[in-house]
Amino acid sequence: MNKRFHIKTMGCQMNEYDSDFLAQSLIKNGFSPENEVGQADVILINTCAVRAKPEQKACSFLGRMAGLKEKNPELVVGMIGCLAQMKGKELMKRFPLLDFIMGPRELEKIIDIVGEIYDSRQKIAVTGLKGAPPSPVNCPGYFQNQTSGFISIMEGCNNFCSYCIVPYVRGREHFRPPEDILREAEHLLSEGVREITLLGQNVNSYTWDDPDHWNFSSLLHAMGNLEDLSRLRFTTSHPKDLSDALLGCFQKMDKLAGHIHLPFQAGSNRILKLMRRGYTREEYLEIIEKLRTAKEGIAITSDVMVGFPGETDEDFLLTLDLIQQVEFDSLFSFKYSDREGTPAAKMPDKISKGVKVSRLQRLQDLQSSITLKKNRHLEGRQLTVLVEGTSKKGGQLTGRTSANKIVNFDGDSHLAGKLVEVTIQESYLNSLKGKLTGS
Ligand code: SAH
Ligand code: SF4
Ligand code: F3S
Repeated sequence: MNKRFHIKTMGCQMNEYDSDFLAQSLIKNGFSPENEVGQADVILINTCAVRAKPEQKACSFLGRMAGLKEKNPELVVGMIGCLAQMKGKELMKRFPLLDFIMGPRELEKIIDIVGEIYDSRQKIAVTGLKGAPPSPVNCPGYFQNQTSGFISIMEGCNNFCSYCIVPYVRGREHFRPPEDILREAEHLLSEGVREITLLGQNVNSYTWDDPDHWNFSSLLHAMGNLEDLSRLRFTTSHPKDLSDALLGCFQKMDKLAGHIHLPFQAGSNRILKLMRRGYTREEYLEIIEKLRTAKEGIAITSDVMVGFPGETDEDFLLTLDLIQQVEFDSLFSFKYSDREGTPAAKMPDKISKGVKVSRLQRLQDLQSSITLKKNRHLEGRQLTVLVEGTSKKGGQLTGRTSANKIVNFDGDSHLAGKLVEVTIQESYLNSLKGKLTGS
């Protein structure tokens, strides 16, 4: 019988990429995708462990699924990803419907594990962290009708920022060979993808074999030579590893989008030191200057958190001040949350929930006013938009500018995958509205 699988993905783009790998592996082995979780024979939950919130989300999803196995005892349920790596064994006891847990460095075993469960109905846990990233599956047709795609160029992280669980659940840095990355890119382009985002926790540290030959900027150049590629993006960059060569890429490469996501986390040097980020606020501001000199009008987005242990009002004001000085295009902002096993979880002077909530609110209010102001400056301007398709509501076309701003406008759906010129008429917090003025 043809088995159907459903994958629920939580967490970052890395997990989305991993879920696509799992889906393609399953399809290649005769399984077919199923949108309705209740109709699936195999359910995979790809989880995140970076904060308490995604952890709760995964647990409540599992709670809701509990009844499904009573209806269908043959059902196979697996928890994948970072939370599976961090707490999988404990969660397997708490949620009896789980048949297996699988860490993010074990994805290549998916077919063997599902097969083994069908054969033996034994519970399985695989949580090795040494595995090299798998070679791409490149399942024909999987990415058809998609304008934008991801390619992971590395696994893991060596930075050990004091608050962060990622190095413990994803293991040490491990790069993928350039041939694999370029082969995967060729495949995506052959499917009709026109924009590729290179993914990694710290993409700037990319090297392969001879670092003078293969580093992050030479990889960007190699990608830029792919004829059918319209736009190239990458995420995430660590400020301490941002090289002059990368600044050169922004200057020279037409296809490289005018946007960088550069997490700063905090504006106070005392907190940055406790976070073990490896740069000061002054150094961060200097990098911003350099980026703006290299590429005029470059969009800069960032991650920041409030309520790190010991964060005083003064420290927090320095964070607001940095936001004010840089004027980010947008920000992902979080309340610090203890992650068991990280150094910060053991630090004294924890900040109360109430203080974190009010600091976050103040920070988000400030950023909203900056984002609105920056978006308003785009009104009346003509921008190049890569069309992604029709928007969920309203039937308009939707796409993104080089600066990664979402633009909605009227137009024909055959424009999907094309670069078009749109004049911006109205601006909002999370999107822009425009009129097609050239294609
Ligand atoms: N590799 C990226 C980010 C990975 S995690 C980088 O170096 O910045 C994504 C974001 O989650 C981080 O940038 C940080 O802002 C946030 N984050 C990580 N650990 C956290 C924690 N314990 N509490 C709250 N936010 C956290
Ligand atoms: Fe976490 Fe720091 Fe690595 Fe980013 S660089 S994944 S924040 S340890
Ligand atoms: Fe991503 Fe969450 Fe893991 S942010 S790397 S899925 S802990």
